[in-house]
Amino acid sequence: MTQFFDVVIIGAGPGGYVAAIRCAQLGLNTACIDEWKNPQGRASLGGTCLNVGCIPSKALLESSENYERVAHKYSEHGIKVEGLSVNIPEMISRKDKIVTTFTSGISMLFKKNKVTSIHGRGTLVKYRNDKKSWKVKIKNGDKEETIEATYIIIATGSTPRPLSFVAVDNERILDNEGALTLIEAPKRLGIIGAGVIGLEMASVWRRLGSEVTILEALPEFLTIVDEQVAKEAQKIFTRELGLEILTGINLTEIKTGKKTLMVKYLDAQAKAQKLEVDKLIVSVGRIPNTAELGAEYVGLRIDDGGRIEVDSHCRTNLPNVYAVGDVVRGPMLAHKASEEGIAVAESIIANEAGQAREHIKINLDTIPWVIYTSPEIAWVGKTEQELKTAGIRYKAGQFPFMANGRARALGETSGFVKILADANTDRILGVHMIGPYVSEMISEAVVAMEFAASSEDIARIVHAHPSLSEVLHEAALGVDKRALHI
Ligand code: FAD
Ligand code: NAI
Repeated sequence: MTQFFDVVIIGAGPGGYVAAIRCAQLGLNTACIDEWKNPQGRASLGGTCLNVGCIPSKALLESSENYERVAHKYSEHGIKVEGLSVNIPEMISRKDKIVTTFTSGISMLFKKNKVTSIHGRGTLVKYRNDKKSWKVKIKNGDKEETIEATYIIIATGSTPRPLSFVAVDNERILDNEGALTLIEAPKRLGIIGAGVIGLEMASVWRRLGSEVTILEALPEFLTIVDEQVAKEAQKIFTRELGLEILTGINLTEIKTGKKTLMVKYLDAQAKAQKLEVDKLIVSVGRIPNTAELGAEYVGLRIDDGGRIEVDSHCRTNLPNVYAVGDVVRGPMLAHKASEEGIAVAESIIANEAGQAREHIKINLDTIPWVIYTSPEIAWVGKTEQELKTAGIRYKAGQFPFMANGRARALGETSGFVKILADANTDRILGVHMIGPYVSEMISEAVVAMEFAASSEDIARIVHAHPSLSEVLHEAALGVDKRALHI
């Protein structure tokens, strides 16, 4: 007999699994379908984020940074370590254990919340007008079953964007999955794309000994961040970390030799160049995952960027079908996916109670971004270049970590915090950080922006001393030209 659920979620990444837990918490009979298999061929919940994204990359970033600290930074604290060595297979197996702990943790959370977990590929089949329900087919190998649900949440995430003439084999030409499983540092590592994955993976493998060259198509470096932050980052990544970053390049060919790879490209002056590497990471963005979802059969609307079209409440064009996370518009970030999942679960309950107007939505303007390089980069809201383009008049306040006691004690003094506030109202429009642990500091800026705070609000809040958060405080004072310690 066909099983019937209130809600069926397709995809168990941070969008889908969080939506499933919240739906179950709200009393909805919920099933979550996911097709991910780990390298051992077992079902593994958590999607890209837990299996081959946020969590494993941060584990390797932390391990490699610890090595870098001991090798190069501890001596200034008077700590000398002799006979230092690194065991990369151990580092990788620590990362794998963290992944397994978290992915199996989601299975436990599903059991605890009575979410039915189904392994396989979910496809939308049809809407039954008589029962006001959706039929979903689940395929797992040769097995096929069909279930029904009143509501559907699509959270199928994204996959690496392929380059037409570059075949990823995860042996020598790697995507994020392969880049996270190398068991030795390649002598020469090439990376295509100086975006978020490119820079995080470059940091890991450079610290562990690779010579890293990044080939970026755009003429400018890291265009998604504030220009001043990008300039500071490029200076630190090239001078201190030793990355070779080439911008404005145009790839022409990748030749696979017996042991090495030859990357051919035109440089910024359109001159033909070659780069010989042992491994190559391709990180040129991600594409939404809508293949075999049944979109074309049920008439699910897809936008020009290949994303499922949704309104601000994550509603698709189909009745009772929502979509969240990387598969819809907005930044491809785990926390954005999860918050959309929660908002949809709560909207479904509101809908059931006949309060359609109570639909919850998340504020895409206050989603924080973090790039986990060293120093870290974090931001929320508008960049200076965006404000200039939009013709919005603003004031800026900036303060360097160099002048902060806690940063000095840490020995991490690179970078700064910048606050951009409306020239008339003083409302905070954007906060940009590059420096130590700014991944933790950015939340204060998010809270401030969510509560429509002014820079003066932050300037008048007492910040602990000595702490890195004082840099944000001083940047806020700087908006009014009254920073104290500079
Ligand atoms: P996903 O996590 O991609 O999950 C989708 C799931 O749906 C997958 O399990 C997939 O197998 C399954 N699926 C797809 N189609 C079907 C189907 N038809 N039937 C059944 N199952 C299906 N974001 C951050 O915020 N912070 C970070 O530090 C960060 N680091 C990252 C590092 C790397 C290397 C990468 C690649 C990404 C990183 N991201 C990070 C981005 C983050 O991983 C994604 O934004 C997030 O995983 C999106 O969540 P999602 O639920 O939309 O999709
Ligand atoms: P990205 O969009 O961040 O960067 C891709 C880069 O590749 C861009 O700079 C682009 O100009 C460049 N590029 C595109 N085509 C190219 C070509 N043919 N030759 C050379 N360069 C080319 O994408 P990335 O790094 O793949 O990451 C995907 C997404 O995953 C991120 O945008 C982010 O949403 C998410 N992510 C988030 C992280 C975090 O929050 N810390 C960490 C890693 C990924």
